[in-house]
Amino acid sequence: MPDSPHETLIIGGGIAGLVLALEIAERRPVTLLQPSREALGASRWAQGGIAAVLSPDDDVEAHVADTLVAGDGLCDEAAVRFTVEQGPAAIEWLLSLGVPFTPDPDPEARYPYHLTREGGHGARRIIHADDATGRAVVETLRQHVERHPAIRLRTDLTAIGLIADVAGHCRGARCLDENGGLVELMAADTVLATGGASGLFRHTTSPDPACGEGMLMAAELGAELMNLEFQQFHPTCLFDPDGPPFLISEAVRGEGGLLLDADGRRFMPEVDPRAELAPRDVVARAIDAEMQRSGRDHVWLDVRHLGEDAIRHHFPTIHAYCASRGIDIAREPIPVVPAAHYSCGGVSTDLEGATTVPRLHAVGEVAGTGLHGANRMASNSLLECLAFARSCARRLRDASAPGDAPLTSWQPGTSPVPDAECQALLSEVRTIMSESVAIVRHDAGLAAAEERLAELAERLAPCIAEARPSVPLARLWHALRLARLTVASARARRESRGLHFNPDCPLHGDPAPQPSRLYLSDLTPASH
Ligand code: SIN
Repeated sequence: MPDSPHETLIIGGGIAGLVLALEIAERRPVTLLQPSREALGASRWAQGGIAAVLSPDDDVEAHVADTLVAGDGLCDEAAVRFTVEQGPAAIEWLLSLGVPFTPDPDPEARYPYHLTREGGHGARRIIHADDATGRAVVETLRQHVERHPAIRLRTDLTAIGLIADVAGHCRGARCLDENGGLVELMAADTVLATGGASGLFRHTTSPDPACGEGMLMAAELGAELMNLEFQQFHPTCLFDPDGPPFLISEAVRGEGGLLLDADGRRFMPEVDPRAELAPRDVVARAIDAEMQRSGRDHVWLDVRHLGEDAIRHHFPTIHAYCASRGIDIAREPIPVVPAAHYSCGGVSTDLEGATTVPRLHAVGEVAGTGLHGANRMASNSLLECLAFARSCARRLRDASAPGDAPLTSWQPGTSPVPDAECQALLSEVRTIMSESVAIVRHDAGLAAAEERLAELAERLAPCIAEARPSVPLARLWHALRLARLTVASARARRESRGLHFNPDCPLHGDPAPQPSRLYLSDLTPASH
């Protein structure tokens, strides 16, 4: 039971979870479930920075307009405007906490910190800490969280499901400790900050991506999910079959990096007038097409013309990491390939992170706020984490204590399912998703994926009721059902838009497109 009946439980310790914890803890006690220090969510791997209107030469309308263009007709304009307007104050707040953003050395600069450019942005508006912004922000926030007396950090627990009362309100989370023991954390309010679902795919830009666990936990309580078909593939992950995933930031193209085909020729200018700085969906699709055409397993990203000093100055992390993998980026082009990076959809929320389930909120990549529409613009994600975690905190600070309805019953099974079997099945899910639901999706591939995933669910469902809870099993079961919902969304969208490209319906369809909205009960049978 909570130490206080007014406890807020935050699941996930990336930037969204850390910001929320700090912003709420002045008024309410907080328990923050954070992965181990090494993991710290996808935020830690974000290189580029945070998009915000900071330069006197930029303005809110321009940032809103660029976001709407990248979102390809599906952004919720109110969410876009809200997010963009929160940007400057959120950056001021981070500066007040001591985040070491990179200063602009130019004495004539119109803003004291260096602002870089990325795809889709018509202005320099990305504030950054060298090329390791996520790490710098996470580490600063984490130091404040560790010192805060009202925040209880739990790094020993993994949430495997949410707890509901008979009125359908969320009342906390069911967790497993490091020995597999069940721990029920009760809370007045629960916030998911669990990250996205890139882990449904085989190749990703971060080493240990979430598989949509938070999305599915919310769906189990009846929450609405939206826009799952819009999975973003970052155009430039280092092609390194023997190494862990490593992102090559879009800021590299922002500062002048060029994409080259196997013959050393630029191919982006023929695809889009914005060339290397077109939105990510356009660039990732062009690279995919180029790889299909040439039969090669990567393209090249060339920065040699920027000069060694500029490369080392702007991209010290990328320069050093590539050197450690045997690539001197000042002297040779970088082999790159698109990889799953960011989920533009998630648990539907309002502008304060409230989901459709009472007393359950969602912030960060797990949430579908309407900001990204059909394609997220670079560096809008950390901005979204900040804007929505802070607005969610403002709402929860003043929330009243919940009523006293009894909890729904839950009985764990006792049969063990070997971890290796869970991992093998999760790997099968990833293969299916990567083969048929990636950058290009055909009708036939989607139908086959739907069938193969349904078969897996059919096989697994009987064991689930009997199974002893384990983290790998929970992860698999969440991932499998989220993959099925993703395929259902992709099949339902009879058009190509943003990140969803289906050559069997290659054009925009509806002139007034709607987000896709669905529930776990839309799967047949509804239980699996
Ligand atoms: C990057 O630096 O390219 C990644 C940041 C983002 O996804 O916005």
